[in-house]
Amino acid sequence: MFDPRQHLIVALDVSSAAAAKEIVAALGDCASTFKVGLQLYTAAGPQIVRDLVGTGHKVFLDLKYHDIPNTVAAAVREAAQLGVGMLTVHGAAGGKVLRAAVEAARKVNPDLLVLAVTVLTSMDDRDLEKVGVRGRVLDQVLRLGALALSDGCDGLVTSARETAELRSELGGDFVIVNPGVRPVGSDHGDQARVVTPAEAIAAGASYIVVGRPITAAPDPAAAAKTILEQMSLAVGV
Ligand code: C5P
Repeated sequence: MFDPRQHLIVALDVSSAAAAKEIVAALGDCASTFKVGLQLYTAAGPQIVRDLVGTGHKVFLDLKYHDIPNTVAAAVREAAQLGVGMLTVHGAAGGKVLRAAVEAARKVNPDLLVLAVTVLTSMDDRDLEKVGVRGRVLDQVLRLGALALSDGCDGLVTSARETAELRSELGGDFVIVNPGVRPVGSDHGDQARVVTPAEAIAAGASYIVVGRPITAAPDPAAAAKTILEQMSLAVGV
């Protein structure tokens, strides 16, 4: 039985631990996995991760590590010790970094999911060309995806627009996390490669990440429930 709550990650992109905890409380049992990203981690530090883990929530630490292998491995070790369930490394950091991250994670917690960020969902083909990558976003996603999986990563962070090709080229046996998800009719903000919750799940996402459509809603629980319903519709339950 498909339980959409097991496939929704709420991005806590807020500026304090108090604001994050308010959203978690408002959501109740609508969500159990929360993404701590650059803003919240910079504002509130590792204690917010400990607090969320301590209250029984799963934490996706999305700091998108991109540094030399030794530094990334050391950071992954610290993150693993905080008890996070998932974390991100930039695929563009290259195979040596990805392997170092996976090895470091496995030593502390074999179940920790190490995910490679492929191409940020805010980027389109023209943005890629400006940073020197020729070809389509899709080609770069497939290239970095293949690299990350061959270097031991558990999954990829990418737009749902690339899921079908990733599954057919690289198989079904890895985690796909899709940010850039927008319920029908909501504001796209700075996201470029946007899909709806139903489209993401139907395409084969393991998890969808939703931030502002829930956290900036007047009633976050109501917004989350609408998204959960749309996710369920995609699998016909
Ligand atoms: O508010 P919104 O739903 O756009 O939030 C999306 C979240 O997913 C943000 O925290 C952003 O940092 C993250 N993310 C992304 N694109 C990626 C990886 C992560 O938007 N490729």
